[in-house]
Amino acid sequence: MQELKDTIDKSRLPRHIAVIMDGNGRWAKEKGQDRLYGHFHGVQSVRDVVEGSAELGLEYLTLYAFSTENWDRPENEVTGLMELLVDTIRKEVPTLNKNNIRLHVIGDIAMMPEYARTELQEALDETSKNTGLNLIMALSYSSRWELVNAMKRVAEDVKAGKVEPEQVNPALFQQYLATSAFPDPELMIRTSGEYRISNFLLYQLAYAELYFTDTCWPDFRKENLYQAILDFQKRERRFGKTSEQLQQSANSI
Ligand code: IPE
Ligand code: IPE
Ligand code: MG
Repeated sequence: MQELKDTIDKSRLPRHIAVIMDGNGRWAKEKGQDRLYGHFHGVQSVRDVVEGSAELGLEYLTLYAFSTENWDRPENEVTGLMELLVDTIRKEVPTLNKNNIRLHVIGDIAMMPEYARTELQEALDETSKNTGLNLIMALSYSSRWELVNAMKRVAEDVKAGKVEPEQVNPALFQQYLATSAFPDPELMIRTSGEYRISNFLLYQLAYAELYFTDTCWPDFRKENLYQAILDFQKRERRFGKTSEQLQQSANSI
């Protein structure tokens, strides 16, 4: 599928793509397998999409791997998924280093078991010098957790006299988010034919282009990613302005 990749305009890549990797359970059920079988196969999709992103020269890729709400799933699924996630991250460190990929994690890590936190920290440290793709794993993440946490910390800083209420604006607020070091996603992809955000980056997706596909995550490959990017490149991002205004400013450059 080299051809599809070649039709992407490399000068107009989204800087940051965020993905809700959904549909592992349904994919497995269709094959008469249990849900963990779906999660297991989803790992290959992660590898492929990360590789495809790095090859394209993408700067930021955020993958929603486990939500705050997912803690409420049956215990065997939560345990299995946690082990799979941590095990995969640990095993992938050499490949991440080989491809100059830096790992980041956003989420309520305190909720994770001790062994998982230790493994994660090691992977973060071991890839911290890499300067290529930034791979951000959203683990035990939910947007409401992040926003409430940010608000709490703003309130603490106001109370401590470090920040004046008048200073609180979008630029300052963004520094309190788990994503403070990253630009907002320009493209958000959700697989498996679900059309919702499920508590993912509610603030950061304000102006993202949304792309939905019926493909379930275990079937998603870099070609599907290229398709989403091509779709993104056809859209006119107006940011509240009119189409004519955009034409005018493009002409004046
Ligand atoms: C996505 O697949 C993976 C996680 C949410 C951890 P699901 O497990 O949600 O699969 P479906 O949506 O039930 O098919
Ligand atoms: C969203 O998928 C979370 C992740 C992909 C990690 P869910 O499957 O948990 O979302 P809902 O429950 O269908 O909204
Ligand atoms: Mg799901």
